[in-house]
Amino acid sequence: MLLAVDGLSKRFGGLRAVNEVGFRLDRGEILGLIGPNGSGKSTLMSLVMGIHRPDAGTIRFDGADIAGWPPNRVAEAGISMVSQHSRPLLQQTVLQNVQLALLPNRLLNLRLAPGIAAAARAALERVGLGDVADRLPSELPFAGLRRLELAKSLARQPTLLLLDEPFAGLSAGEVREFSALIRTFRTPERAIILVDHNVKGVRALVDRVIAMSAGSKIADDLPDHVLADETVRAVYLGGGGEVVPRPAPARREEAILRADRVSVSYGKATALREVSLAVPRGGVAAVVGLNGAGKTSLFNAICGLVPAKGGISYRGASLAGREASRIARDGVVLCPEKRELFGDMSVAENLRLGGSHLRAGELRERMDFVETLFPRLAERRGQFARTLSGGEQQQLALGRALMMKPAVLLIDEPTLGLAPIILDVISEAIEALRDTGTISLLIAEQNLTFALRHADEIHLLENGEITWNGPADRFAAEAGARVL
Ligand SMILES: Nc1ncnc2c1ncn2[C@@H]1O[C@H](COP(=O)(O)OP(=O)(O)OP(=O)(O)O)[C@@H](O)[C@H]1O
Ligand SMILES: [Mg+2]
Repeated sequence: MLLAVDGLSKRFGGLRAVNEVGFRLDRGEILGLIGPNGSGKSTLMSLVMGIHRPDAGTIRFDGADIAGWPPNRVAEAGISMVSQHSRPLLQQTVLQNVQLALLPNRLLNLRLAPGIAAAARAALERVGLGDVADRLPSELPFAGLRRLELAKSLARQPTLLLLDEPFAGLSAGEVREFSALIRTFRTPERAIILVDHNVKGVRALVDRVIAMSAGSKIADDLPDHVLADETVRAVYLGGGGEVVPRPAPARREEAILRADRVSVSYGKATALREVSLAVPRGGVAAVVGLNGAGKTSLFNAICGLVPAKGGISYRGASLAGREASRIARDGVVLCPEKRELFGDMSVAENLRLGGSHLRAGELRERMDFVETLFPRLAERRGQFARTLSGGEQQQLALGRALMMKPAVLLIDEPTLGLAPIILDVISEAIEALRDTGTISLLIAEQNLTFALRHADEIHLLENGEITWNGPADRFAAEAGARVL
């Protein structure tokens, strides 16, 4: 037995984030940890890693009770965690980032430890970043940054590797690659715990699954048994899953927003080449494509956040030269992929900021609307945004964007980090919004199931160019092979 957790509990104020959880883990095992947003998965991992101190319980690792040890001591004992967020040091090369992760103390001079460079290089080779070791992290695509985080953990040669949402934001193909890569991390000595909302990805990789709900363990069994469990289905999986593409609309709505041969360059690099698309009034358009295809550049261009060539028009008028803040006030609102919440402000303050242009009555009404859509935000009104779980932060980002009363809402990766059951909630919300006829949506999605379910029109973006577009129900047959 490598890890034995018993009666582990952690409260935040009145909230029992982790409630008397116990489980076992053997060497060589890969364990999946699933559960709704805010059910305590990340907190449980943080307790094991020593980032939070437990209020009660024991964590026996390799013979010692490590509960309450500080993170550096836990790390020395052989546990390493890859967090939900990539935070590389931007001034340091990829290699230096790994080297620094290997130092017990960042103030030590790198030259004092000759073995470190070799260990760091080896870890980069393992994750497929050997060729870009001397580049800066900013030059890596999203999946490359995630690989860098894996290398930082792996370089320490942990006996227990904790992975928090390694698949988040990756395309289906990248998930398969990461899955294969993570499988190679397993050794007879090393165990892995994996948290992710990509149920397919988790199921393909793990030997056993633990499900949590509201801080408690509700199932602990073989993956197929846990995923078939009625309670797990009810609290986590919900009903969805099948790809049901939306049929083409009976008649074409006029466009409320139109991009006409929009190009974006950063220095010499072209991120977007002559992209044209339209968002139908009261409808949903989706841009799908791999990471780095240019989705975020397109959204930023539309919202006036990066300079672009070509034409962008909204309600028939050109947006050229209009300032970003003005574009937002006029009703074209971006919900950014990075969420950009104010971490040291409460949930309610973040929402109120979104609605700062509204009159008091309207503000209240809008708050009610958002809190009905996402009841969790109502429960967490007073909590600092930075302490929300990953999925709760995503709900807050969406909520704040909706507070701005958008006529056109651009959502960059709406489903990132959300539990399947919340996807159902968001799906219903999108259809409810569509029914009001007062909002039009442009979404950028990796999650094709979700995009196909809602979009009247799909645009496939590859290397900065639209390579296919058409109704959702033709996508699978005509373009699906390229991205599914
Ligand atoms: N420092 C804190 N202060 C107050 N509440 C907190 C704090 N940290 C976490 N929480 C709350 O504890 C609950 C559990 O959070 P946790 O991050 O463990 O969830 P999770 O299962 O990882 O969810 P997700 O799938 O969304 O990432 C959440 O409701 C969160 O808001
Ligand atoms: Mg989490």
